[in-house]
Amino acid sequence: MLKIKEFNKIIVANWKLNGSNDFLEAYFEKLALKDIDSDICGIICPPITYFQNCYSKLNSLYLGAQDCSKFKDGAYTGEISASMLRENNCIFCIVGHSERRQVFKENNEDIKIKAAQLLDEKIVPIICIGETLEQKKMHKTHEVLKEQVINSLPPNSSKESVVIAYEPIWAIGTGITPTLEEINNIHKYLKKDIKEIEEYKLLYGGSVNPKNASDIMSLENVDGVLVGGSSLKADQFSEILKA
Ligand code: 13P
Repeated sequence: MLKIKEFNKIIVANWKLNGSNDFLEAYFEKLALKDIDSDICGIICPPITYFQNCYSKLNSLYLGAQDCSKFKDGAYTGEISASMLRENNCIFCIVGHSERRQVFKENNEDIKIKAAQLLDEKIVPIICIGETLEQKKMHKTHEVLKEQVINSLPPNSSKESVVIAYEPIWAIGTGITPTLEEINNIHKYLKKDIKEIEEYKLLYGGSVNPKNASDIMSLENVDGVLVGGSSLKADQFSEILKA
């Protein structure tokens, strides 16, 4: 398993349902990986069909998936297992993204099983948590995050093997982010007050771009970022990798 503790920052590109062969060629031609510090862990999570093409172009970056099946094998049409991901050079895998929770009705138990399957295959799960705007307005953020994180963590989880990503749902794809102080405070709460994830690597996601990435990543309790929209622009993602 990759030693995640050795990295200073973890920076993840979540391409979601985007990409094409042509997009891939142009993207990697433009991506500037030269001056990236060696203690930065850069990860690209493309749709699975582009795994091999991406892998051949990654250089120092790592390959990640956006989801995996909770089943190991069998009659589950359309699914892709953690062992299949491992056989295809996958090092990280996002699980429990809010889009999976909301659109595909995944719950904490599903996410816990997926994360356990990934750990069995020595793939680092990136477990996503985040509150809705409504929950934030009702001052339920801490309660919601604690409930999600505790119930999504597999029993064999450790700070060396699992990454947590805090993505406030209202900040995803909206251009709106919490203030730096809010991000740092929520991360502090997660890292210090929830014993189950004490000192875990903790990423922030939601409208991260080249303008705000550096400030967000300099916060004491932020160990990296999970990037959607800006990760689809090679020049912008290059800037974030260097931020
Ligand atoms: P945006 O960066 O487009 O807000 O997306 C965030 C996200 O969902 C990454 O997983």
